[in-house]
Amino acid sequence: MNAASLLLLPCLLSMVNAHGYLTIPSSRTRLGFEAGIDTCPECSILEPVTAWPDLEAAQVGRSGPCGYNARVSVDYNQPGDYWGNTVVATYTANDIVEVQWCVDNNGDHGGMFTYGICQNQTLVDLFLTPGYLPTTEEKQAAEDCFLEGELKCTDVDGQTCGYNPDCTSDQACYRNDWYTCNAFNADTNRACQGVDGAALNSCTTTIAGGYTVTKKIKIPDYDSDHTLLRFRWNSYQTAQVYLHCADIAISGSGSGSSTSSSTATTGSATTTSTTRTSTTTSSSTTCTAATTVSVTFDELVTTTYGENIYLTGSISQLGSWSTSSAIALSASSYTSSNPLWTVTMDLLAGTTFEYKFIKIETDGSVVWESDPNRSYTVPTGCSGLETAVSATWR
Ligand SMILES: *[C@@H]1O[C@H](CO)[C@@H](O)[C@H](O)[C@H]1NC(C)=O
Ligand SMILES: *[C@@H]1O[C@H](CO)[C@@H](O)[C@H](O)[C@H]1NC(C)=O
Repeated sequence: MNAASLLLLPCLLSMVNAHGYLTIPSSRTRLGFEAGIDTCPECSILEPVTAWPDLEAAQVGRSGPCGYNARVSVDYNQPGDYWGNTVVATYTANDIVEVQWCVDNNGDHGGMFTYGICQNQTLVDLFLTPGYLPTTEEKQAAEDCFLEGELKCTDVDGQTCGYNPDCTSDQACYRNDWYTCNAFNADTNRACQGVDGAALNSCTTTIAGGYTVTKKIKIPDYDSDHTLLRFRWNSYQTAQVYLHCADIAISGSGSGSSTSSSTATTGSATTTSTTRTSTTTSSSTTCTAATTVSVTFDELVTTTYGENIYLTGSISQLGSWSTSSAIALSASSYTSSNPLWTVTMDLLAGTTFEYKFIKIETDGSVVWESDPNRSYTVPTGCSGLETAVSATWR
């Protein structure tokens, strides 16, 4: 691409503009992208809406709190084959944890973002019921609850806040300009680095590469085997709001608040046969933090006799990307209608790594899955935690 066409890009993209999505914990959108169902995870957009300066004016409509991607007609407000049935992270009440979203290099339009947890399990359960699509009214009721359950940036002691709605316009932390260090339509030295100081492609987007936006949030004093963390970004320059959610669990703090909430989850519709995450919280008052977590990797891939599936990735336990030290998956449950390869490993809680599945042919040649690399953060939680990751060869 020559310089002239580069300069044209901002004009050509004026109708698509801001783009971003929740990446840690893995949002439903991210899982849809990694499963190959969503071709542009940063493109779930609620538009055109009033996004500024009234950050709560926009009705969420079809987008709901979890987002709707019109490009691929995927509604993330209901569980799908690759998201919504299993939690991706288990947190402890009152813990401070790091979360992250990804803003596209051509999609930084400033604004404010916030995280929320709705403490009405009855409402959240509507978004966890396989085969059920919440109505527009239910989506809005849930979003109102997420706004009420805002996790304020200023609740985390010592955190530098900015771009967060809990900062008011007269405070130094009130920012609505750019996440990246130079303006979108600056001619030179545009978007030289992200708000984290991270380089371009520190996270994956499909348009122009992504910059991570990392913050800490304080998990509320709430107890749930399966609930949602909702991310919302109101763009400043464009009439757009971005909504994403991630399936999480919160184990109680043992501070005596778990009596009423344990009833709330008992009869919920969230327990499906695919849910494998378990915590030991309801029966014990104290929780020993897990050092390692048992993670099962399931990969659906049709193979022929002699072909074997392995897992390799960026951490030494996964062979540090070496194909000769990769971890073998087992085909003991493989059938032609359910071509499942699987392996269970104990991994250090909280570790983030990238990985891919590889196929080793009879002659020893290696076939890699297509890009991008998959990425995973081992959840943290009480000891005995087990979780599963489901994927399909791509
Ligand atoms: C939870 O939401 C439902 C549906 O909107 C409502 O009927 C119920 O009163 C709410 N429960 C609480 C405890 O607020
Ligand atoms: C995947 O990770 C490997 C090893 O770090 C790296 O060389 C490669 O560029 C990555 N692929 C993508 C698409 O980011």
